[in-house]
Amino acid sequence: MPLRPCLFALKTGQRMKNKSPVSRSGRFTGGPAAEVAQFTESISFDWRLWRHDILGSMAHAEMLRKIGVLQKNELHAIIRGLNKIGLEIRAGKFRWKPELEDVHMNIEAELTKRVPAGAKLHTARSRNDQVALDMRLWLRDEITLLLGEIASLQRALVSLGEKNADVLIPGYTHLQRAQPVYLAHHLLAYVEMLERDCERLWDCHSRVNVCPLGSGAIAGSTLPLDRALVAKLLDFADASGKVQLTQNSMDAVGDRDFAVEFCAAGALLAVHLSRLAEDVILWASAEFNFIKIADAYTTGSSLMPQKKNPDIAELARGKSARVIGNLVSLLTLLKGLPMTYNRDLQEDKERLFDTADTVRATTRILSAMLRNVKINRAACAAAASDPALLATDLADYLVKKGMPFRQAHHVVGALVALAEKAGKPLNQLTLAELQGVNPTFGRDALGVFNLKTAMAKRNLTGAPGTKEVAKQLARWREQLS
Ligand code: ARG
Repeated sequence: MPLRPCLFALKTGQRMKNKSPVSRSGRFTGGPAAEVAQFTESISFDWRLWRHDILGSMAHAEMLRKIGVLQKNELHAIIRGLNKIGLEIRAGKFRWKPELEDVHMNIEAELTKRVPAGAKLHTARSRNDQVALDMRLWLRDEITLLLGEIASLQRALVSLGEKNADVLIPGYTHLQRAQPVYLAHHLLAYVEMLERDCERLWDCHSRVNVCPLGSGAIAGSTLPLDRALVAKLLDFADASGKVQLTQNSMDAVGDRDFAVEFCAAGALLAVHLSRLAEDVILWASAEFNFIKIADAYTTGSSLMPQKKNPDIAELARGKSARVIGNLVSLLTLLKGLPMTYNRDLQEDKERLFDTADTVRATTRILSAMLRNVKINRAACAAAASDPALLATDLADYLVKKGMPFRQAHHVVGALVALAEKAGKPLNQLTLAELQGVNPTFGRDALGVFNLKTAMAKRNLTGAPGTKEVAKQLARWREQLS
């Protein structure tokens, strides 16, 4: 990766006379004050758009050739020059100049230095539509990469569920034991959540995937640009192959909805990951002891020798904070902003980049960690065999005998209190004790505490029943293959 440019050798108050960017040429008597250059530059972070900036410039040049602005040899020289610059950037050999403000000016200035026809490249283009284009191209790739990582995390969850298909754990509400579920059912809940994240990202992708080039600074161009050609060259097309062009030049240069949408989808993904992380943290505690994370995916304490900490999961949980912050920053940035492009918009990039980097890295490390988790079957079995988890099944037993549910709820509640007072588990109450509370109970009543039968009965669509969970595991295995 290219190095960060070595910024600001100049002292405050000093003018950058000989280093005036082309954007000041003609109109200004000299370069900006050093502190102005320092305050306004974006090259320190937008350099990473270089690949897409070059790609966009190549497509623009092709189009300029088609409409006769560039000669064939000029086009070839420009493409060759841009390719060479790209190789140098990739090799870390390109010298970024902060006084040239941003990635767009750095590349164009260097190209023009090497290739005279480079001076024609910016014909009918403004950095306003150029930066919108670069960001859309960059984000399109990011979304594809992120979707790949999410699918991989989903596969890790499914694999863990499959490997432990017979493991039962208590399901919790209010973090209190509620009803028994298969571990796989719990894991598949996250697979569902992640699938919705994928849908949202795809939906966002469809609005990212629209070409803004040709909008100029604000009002298009008087030159007969072929916008569709540029869009086609850059693959801005919907699923049916129809070219996608922005339809209002003012909207196109002022719009950052696509970045907000990505950051919103990213924030919800981060929230989902934080919840998964929290479950892992709980499960790895001595109190739950449901899982053991491999040493390579845990950390130690600098003081307490016995500690093995789930820091990956804790950081995954913590990182959601900045991703949520990025969304709020972007919304705040756009709020009340007048039409159209305003320099404020330069502040969008670091927030967008940070969200993309953070959610991708977090998704990736969580799937690696889950592939290195062992389930403590004995501890899960002990927790899941708590008969109180089947109290609702006992109420259902009474409902099947014709009792209104509210009354059944009350009767079983009284039995729970009785068992608690007697200091024994719910399933150890005698038939006489059951009938003492309500005569509806028959000999078969205690049968509801058979966990295996209880799980076989929960076969509604989406329920944690034995058959249903197997079906869902198979569905996801197939869908994710
Ligand atoms: N670096 C700028 C940004 O990120 C590029 C666009 C600058 N446009 C301008 N008119 N100054 O927003």
